[in-house]
Amino acid sequence: MTVLDILTYPDKFLKKQTTPVENIDGALQTVFDDMAATMYVAPGVGLAAPQVGIGRSFIIYDIAPQDDRHNLHVLINPRIVTSEGEIISENEGCLSVPDFRADVKRAERVLVEGVDREGNPLRFEAEGMLAIVIQHELDHLDGTLFIDQISALKRQIYKRRVKKEMRET
Ligand code: NI
Repeated sequence: MTVLDILTYPDKFLKKQTTPVENIDGALQTVFDDMAATMYVAPGVGLAAPQVGIGRSFIIYDIAPQDDRHNLHVLINPRIVTSEGEIISENEGCLSVPDFRADVKRAERVLVEGVDREGNPLRFEAEGMLAIVIQHELDHLDGTLFIDQISALKRQIYKRRVKKEMRET
């Protein structure tokens, strides 16, 4: 397995809308495994295809990535069918937005549809932490980062910091 490079803000690729996966072939299975290795090393609880430079609609996640108890989920062509309630996702972060965290408003419960890595249809309800991770990763597939969901003031603070860091390196 290969640990992949994770694109970070302000890479323009992260702003692109993805297109659906049409064919779940062996090459794609390798990508899932490479993305999993990348996510566990980072470490993170989720990773979306655009974060490793792939413009297709799929995500991986594992909300309990400790030690050897890996429970990897691959969700292909996912969509949120219904969402309800509201929770604050406290201190949300993203591997593509290093060294920054913010509180983000999220739906409390979502009904999700998609396909697993074997091509089997999936339909399940998620709530709490899992609902937050799925919403965050699905946003990536639409070219949205969590810093697009926070107040303009907080976003400006982050963007200014990145600009400053880019000037200094
Ligand atoms: Ni992210």
